[in-house]
Amino acid sequence: MSDIKTKIAGIGYYVPENVVTNFDLMEVMDTSDEWIETRTGIKERRYATRMKETTATMGVKAAKIAMERAGVGPEDIDFVIFATLSPDYYFPGCGVLVQRELGLGKIGALDVRNQCSGFIYGMSIADQFIRTGTYKNILLVGGEMHSAGIDFSTRGRGVTVIFGDGAGAVVLQPTTEENKGILTSNLHSDGRYAEKLAFMNPGSHGGVFTGKTDIFDEEEKYGKLMVNDKMVEEGDHYPNMEGPFVFKNAVRRFPETICESLEAAGYELQDLDMLIPHQANLRISQFVQKMLEIPDEKVYNNIQKYGNTTAASIPIALCEAWEKGKIKDGDLVCLAAFGSGFTWGSVLLRW
Ligand code: UT7
Repeated sequence: MSDIKTKIAGIGYYVPENVVTNFDLMEVMDTSDEWIETRTGIKERRYATRMKETTATMGVKAAKIAMERAGVGPEDIDFVIFATLSPDYYFPGCGVLVQRELGLGKIGALDVRNQCSGFIYGMSIADQFIRTGTYKNILLVGGEMHSAGIDFSTRGRGVTVIFGDGAGAVVLQPTTEENKGILTSNLHSDGRYAEKLAFMNPGSHGGVFTGKTDIFDEEEKYGKLMVNDKMVEEGDHYPNMEGPFVFKNAVRRFPETICESLEAAGYELQDLDMLIPHQANLRISQFVQKMLEIPDEKVYNNIQKYGNTTAASIPIALCEAWEKGKIKDGDLVCLAAFGSGFTWGSVLLRW
């Protein structure tokens, strides 16, 4: 391959104005500020305004900032990638909505469905297109509007308190500068645990993998629909998660993928200037940091303010860390994620 690497030319993020504290959630479900803070580190999150904002519109706001900082206009973007698990529509994806709303050319628009790892998968895909010379300005967006699809009754508290809305975006360009750009990335999955953290309905599965076929009654008039009354009654149209199982896997896979990236690029943990972990749970980040013996100033977390924004969490945290001056030119930065799928992976870059 050539000497071309992929650099982040511009970065931006957007979080909705509406702040929802743990105390606000206590008004609608049986939970406590103490439980949420102790188990997750989260104090508050943002919720988008229904019927005014969407995953795509938040992505557009983040994208505009990233494009301005990169010094590019709509006519310059030659490919768009959108990572989300909470799209505006079941189909088409958010990529085409961004293409439309930003007035981009008739370029390719790809949606990535890798949940918490979506941004890492997106960066890796963009990196391939840029290093092969196919595209020169790729807009990569990660956005989520979880608040539109979670269970605000006590039944859903194990999932609902964790998630927040927001979007982050980067413009990726080729560079031949020596001390800049993506050095390596790795992507992984283990589908054995696909249902351990999943949002299955609406879906075409018909209970085949879970044995839960009773909610797909063949005899009923609406039994063949992807969502029916029984699902709604039982809350099967909400995300479900086996939290402790996900936690155990996360604290194993994060260190693995970070070390894999460092080793592939010929570095050691001490060489790392900044780790931006996907903001799944502050306790997961702290566990990983402790295992790898990384000092506090080399890990950036903001889940306390925004909750888990899934595909948006890495670009939001990366942008905020950079805006605060915690990432400087030439710094060795590792972005790492783990989540539903299970999927996980990391990107190592020179800022
Ligand atoms: O984005 C990437 C993917 N997601 C993750 O990485 C999440 C990984 N998992 C976690 O972060 C943690 O497992 C959670 C934060 C989700 C849950 O924490 P936990 O310490 O593993 O709690 P648990 O699920 O074992 O539940 C303990 C208790 C249960 O009550 P009992 O059965 O002990 O009486 C739950 O019903 O806490 C209860 N509980 C709550 N109580 C108050 C669950 N959610 C809540 C809540 N408020 N919001």
